[in-house]
Amino acid sequence: TTHSLLILPGDGIGPEVMTEVRKVIDWFQTNKGIQFDVSEDLVGGAAYDKHGVPLADETMAKAQEVDAVLLGAVGGPAYDNLDFSVKPERGLLRLRKEMDLFANLRPAQCFDALADFSSLKREIVAGLDILIVRELTSGVYFGEPRGIHSDDNNPQNEGGRVGINTQRYTSGEIRRVARAAFELAKKRGNRVCSMEKANVMESGILWREEVQWVHDNEYPEVELSHMYADNGAMQLVRRPNQFDVIVTDNLFGDILSDAAAMLTGSLGMLPSASLGAPMANGRPKAMYEPVHGSAPDIAGQGKANPIACILSFAMALRYSYDLGAEADLLEAAVEKVLADGVRTGDLMGPEGGTPVTTSQMGDKIVEALSAL
Ligand code: NAI
Ligand code: MG
Repeated sequence: TTHSLLILPGDGIGPEVMTEVRKVIDWFQTNKGIQFDVSEDLVGGAAYDKHGVPLADETMAKAQEVDAVLLGAVGGPAYDNLDFSVKPERGLLRLRKEMDLFANLRPAQCFDALADFSSLKREIVAGLDILIVRELTSGVYFGEPRGIHSDDNNPQNEGGRVGINTQRYTSGEIRRVARAAFELAKKRGNRVCSMEKANVMESGILWREEVQWVHDNEYPEVELSHMYADNGAMQLVRRPNQFDVIVTDNLFGDILSDAAAMLTGSLGMLPSASLGAPMANGRPKAMYEPVHGSAPDIAGQGKANPIACILSFAMALRYSYDLGAEADLLEAAVEKVLADGVRTGDLMGPEGGTPVTTSQMGDKIVEALSAL
């Protein structure tokens, strides 16, 4: 079988880190005989410069067809003053919306060599490997009614205005993201912790009931627990190793995944995936991307850390191509390079290390793949 991949490097450091992913793809093709059918296109400011829109219709159509999309980053100062409708991030939003990518995966994995970069003590984060699954297409960021209104009839209200958002979840929206979490848990530690605030929110009660329903009817073999999200925030910082997969709504997931990211260190290390409904081949629609942006402050200088994008490709290997062993191998190569003290600028701590450029980091990872 061939594995189709659409690469969208985007802007700023996006193309720089993607060049390093290409080296990894070439290595797997040459050394493991895995056939990737790779195509490349424009997104963000780069697409705007050529087409006048941040994502061309043909690119969107292509994204719907492939097994996986790998995106670098979009945006930059040159595009900051564009009209809202053609801003670079609209390209990203269009992909997420039209592919209906409702499950956002944010792993928090602590590589031993970088444990001292964590905001927490080494003892607490050593060996950390958790996955937060955030519902991405519904909840309070999208619920209606919403708006800012005058509240003139209420003399008690100083300022006379009211701001409204609605937390709204359907059972179907909860069930599909719960299924995604259980499926992922089966490929990992077989444990899911669901977080909401069922003590104070109706949507939280529904969330808890529906996640339990999916568990009891479809995944009884996976261990399920429930936790209030505020306690979850505390537990993430106190003893993060107790978790395997965490599933939560859009708002709580936004906050908890950013907190979890700081358990592991640099922005240059963090991968992500967004998954949608299963396609004809049974695999989910999927887009993979580093958490970081286009980093205009270091773009074009060979300073960017390509690891976040390379680890995003590792997630594609695992979740879109069912190449779990190859994903493990790639993560082990990253671990080895870090253990050897190889460091891009963002990873350079007080203990020093061997400073490398973006390109050298990619070369080292490929060398490690061959050595493992
Ligand atoms: P950013 O993530 O681009 O950069 C924040 C800081 O982290 C910068 O100092 C940068 O140099 C550093 N950094 C980021 N990635 C790095 C890497 N791989 N290696 C080494 N250092 C790295 O966020 P910022 O500065 O807020 O936004 C810059 C531009 O990126 C804006 O136009 C923003 O809209 C866009 N952006 C795009 C995202 C996306 O494409 N998904 C996400 C976040 C921001
Ligand atoms: Mg956030």
